[in-house]
Amino acid sequence: MSFRAAFRERYLDVVGSIYIYNEFRGYTSLDRVLEAVRERCPDDLNFQQEIAKHRADERKHYVMFRRWFERQGRMPLKVDSGVGHIDRFIQWVFRCSIEELDTGQIVADPREFEQLCRVIMLTEQRGYAQVEIILRNKVIMSDPILKRIFQIVHKDEPDHFEPYQRWLEQQGRATAKWNERAADWCIHKILMLAKLPALFLDSGRERMERWPDEAGALPAH
Ligand SMILES: [Fe+2]
Ligand SMILES: [Fe+2]
Repeated sequence: MSFRAAFRERYLDVVGSIYIYNEFRGYTSLDRVLEAVRERCPDDLNFQQEIAKHRADERKHYVMFRRWFERQGRMPLKVDSGVGHIDRFIQWVFRCSIEELDTGQIVADPREFEQLCRVIMLTEQRGYAQVEIILRNKVIMSDPILKRIFQIVHKDEPDHFEPYQRWLEQQGRATAKWNERAADWCIHKILMLAKLPALFLDSGRERMERWPDEAGALPAH
């Protein structure tokens, strides 16, 4: 295999592995959010439906990446919460992992619930901006299936931050604080400038043995 072909294959492998992890974390974390919203805003069925649609989209994205790997007959690279934008953001804001998030406490404290909405909104806005960059990336666009996947993700993405943004605006709350935007920016830079290259260069990196949606597939956090 030429250097160019090997570079391309590894790069796509790394991008696909980071995405499949984030899509999986996305839809599984939204189960917790939906739980919180049902308690906090029981009458706001519209908001609940929008979150349910968001969850369904993220699951669809996960399945598309899974199929992409399956077609190639290989599993994604083993990654951990270090490559998860939402994992790092939740950790930074709430000082705990997604699994440890206390939904009951978040529902009881309006400030915490608003914070959770802002974290999701910023994560999704970041995701949208990132997909726009990917759609201009020649290496990724050279894979016709990945190209199609990212076009679908791009189309779905606005529906993912708008409901939270609208809700925050309705409450008359600042849609994002400067320090939250700064945290989002830092997390993104760490991912792109440190995590992605490290994964790319780690030639001995193992592959997952099971798909993330199979029980016990992800390492404990
Ligand atoms: Fe997604
Ligand atoms: Fe999304």
